[in-house]
Amino acid sequence: MSREQIIAGNWKMYKTTKEAVDFIENLKSKVGSSLASIYLAVPFTMISETAKAAEGTNIIIGAQNMNDATEGAFTGEIAGIMLKDAGAEFVLLGHSERRHIFKESNEFIQKKLERALKDDLQPILCIGETQEERDSEKTEEVLETQIKTALKNVSEKDMEKVVVAYEPVWAIGTGKTATPEIAEKAHAYIRKVLKELYGKTISDKISILYGGSVKPANIEALMNEKNIDGALIGGASLDPDTFAEVINKC
Ligand code: PGA
Repeated sequence: MSREQIIAGNWKMYKTTKEAVDFIENLKSKVGSSLASIYLAVPFTMISETAKAAEGTNIIIGAQNMNDATEGAFTGEIAGIMLKDAGAEFVLLGHSERRHIFKESNEFIQKKLERALKDDLQPILCIGETQEERDSEKTEEVLETQIKTALKNVSEKDMEKVVVAYEPVWAIGTGKTATPEIAEKAHAYIRKVLKELYGKTISDKISILYGGSVKPANIEALMNEKNIDGALIGGASLDPDTFAEVINKC
């Protein structure tokens, strides 16, 4: 089964617009022949300039978060249509830093996902268990609840646009990557839940990315696993040489 392979960078709260544009100029000279789709989730303020810099390349620009409303009195928030207007094509939803630092619930993430699809933004739904949940053998239960709640109103047709990212919280920014076996076990479980919800044909087409301390040294082993279709990368996406190295190993 061939699925779209996606290598996505998540810049979190790093870089200025100039640094971001320089990065794109540098990256595009290194990854022109990549077979994987290259996604970059950048800070809001640089969506527009990076989208312009990436025009005509295989680099797709997106955002790291959005609100579930189309507009309104929500100081400090941003709407999907604003992201789209700035040039974003996708949006990360439910990243563990949003869930844990900013206390976003499964229900809020569900509403955002529904709105992202209406606003024609491709959602990358991030899910993952904490160390404590893994230690108490709750990983599958947590993943199932996160998936089923977030996808509550997503039709079969819309589901073909959704990407899922499995990011165990204990592996994010810690240098502690899940082994390929641990990651594959979780990915296979996620696909099983997706199959239960949408059937085999659709679940077989959904790209499931792994995230958590991915770097040039571990990408190949992860990508060799049957249900791992790409990666969502934080730290190693900030330097164009390192990020290009990851991409070119896929
Ligand atoms: P990391 O972050 O690659 O730095 O662990 C991954 C993420 O937060 O998406």
